[in-house]
Parts: sequence; C-alpha cells; structure tokens
Amino acid sequence: MTRNLLNSILLLILLVLVGTIFFVRRQFTVPNIELLPGMVHSDAYGSQSASPIFPDGKILQPPAEGTVVRNFDPFPYKPTLEDAIRAGNELRSPLDPKDSLSDLRRGSVVFAHVCSPCHGAGGTGDGTIPKHGFPPPPSLFAQNAVNMKGGQIYHIITYGQRNMPSFASQVVRADRWRVAAYIRSLQQQPIQSTVAVK
Ligand code: HEC
Repeated sequence: MTRNLLNSILLLILLVLVGTIFFVRRQFTVPNIELLPGMVHSDAYGSQSASPIFPDGKILQPPAEGTVVRNFDPFPYKPTLEDAIRAGNELRSPLDPKDSLSDLRRGSVVFAHVCSPCHGAGGTGDGTIPKHGFPPPPSLFAQNAVNMKGGQIYHIITYGQRNMPSFASQVVRADRWRVAAYIRSLQQQPIQSTVAVK
C-alpha cells in the first residue's frame, strides 16, 4: 500500500467522522437522542406537577384525616394544660419494669444533659440558666410536680409548658419515659441540692 493511498483513506475516515459529528451535534433546544429510554419517562405525575383531578389543582395532597405514620404511635394530645392532665390520666409508661435500673440510669443521663441546666442537678430549679435571668422552673419536689402522673411529665417534655420549651426533637420518646421515671425516683429520695424546698 502506498503512502498516498493510506493518507487518502485516513483523510476519508476523518471527513466521515467530522461529518457524523456535524450531523448528530447536540441541539440544546430539543431533547437529545435517547437510546433505550426504558423507564426514564413514567406515566405517573411528578410530585410538584399540576393535577387535573384534585380541586386545588395540585398533585401533592395532605394525608387523609386520621392517617397514622408507620412505626410512629400517634400522640393525640394538644399542647394545652387540659391535654397534659388527660395524657397523665390516659398514658402508661411502655418501659419494662425488669429494665428499670438501666432505664433510670439512662433517665439520669438525659436529665443531667437536657433538663438540669434549668431544673438543677437535683431538680430543685437552681440550674445555671435561671441564675442568668431565665425564669426559674418550680422545684420538681413541689406538690404540683410530685402529684403529676408520668404521662403528664411525658406531655410536658413533648410540648413544653409556658416558659419551658418543647424537647421533642432532643429527647426520643422512650427517653421521655425514662426521664419521667428518673424524676419520680428523685422525688422519692432525700434532696441533695442546697436550695430549700417548701
Ligand atoms: C430552658 C429551661 C428548661 C429546661 C432545659 C427544662 N425545663 Fe422543665 N421547666 C422549665 C420552666 C421554666 C418550667 C415552668 C413552666 C411553667 O411556668 O409552667 C418547667 C416546668 C417543668 C415541669 C412541670 C413542673 C410543674 O410543677 O409545673 C416538668 C415536669 C419539667 N419542667 C420537666 C422537665 C424535663 C424532664 C426536662 C428535660 C427533658 C426539662 N423540664 C427541661 C424550664 C426548663
């Protein structure tokens, strides 16, 4: 094969390739060529698309009333004092009594980390935050808290109460029961804090 013939063939291949690139070049205004699109385009509506079916014209609809989230027990109480008392009367701790020691231990850790900054290490309301001007919480040894049922304490941790914010996002559900159990155990012990309790 002469060198000229080889060059001609290579030139021809080059022209064919450049020509092919020119003919199949990307056009940004139209969809590209799709080989085997498979399930790329589904018949289902996109979450944000408009709907010809629903009255408000949206695909995304709120869950039907009474929907229960899977693996998430409903908590049918409102953030009011009446519902806190109702929770106290209706809810029972799901903790297993045979784990009570480890539950109390965990409750004490959560109390020390989350509650004691306000309620004080001993629960008498002499935490660090009230010393800097935050309205002090009442002592957990006062009659009101002593008479409180566990479910009401659970409700207070979940929703907060007046000046106390909700701790639902910091304290998981089982831990709320553990802290409530820990508070109960504190109330049954002699007080270690320096603040006198009326
Ligand atoms: C930011 C400070 C703060 C933190 C942190 C806090 N509390 Fe409170 N708590 C308060 C205040 C203030 C009150 C009083 C609210 C009121 O005026 O009713 C209160 C009230 C309570 C009461 C009701 C007492 C009563 O006699 O009415 C309970 C029970 C309670 N808290 C438990 C907890 C638990 C359990 C935690 C930790 C998970 C916690 N608190 C964390 C500030 C706090």
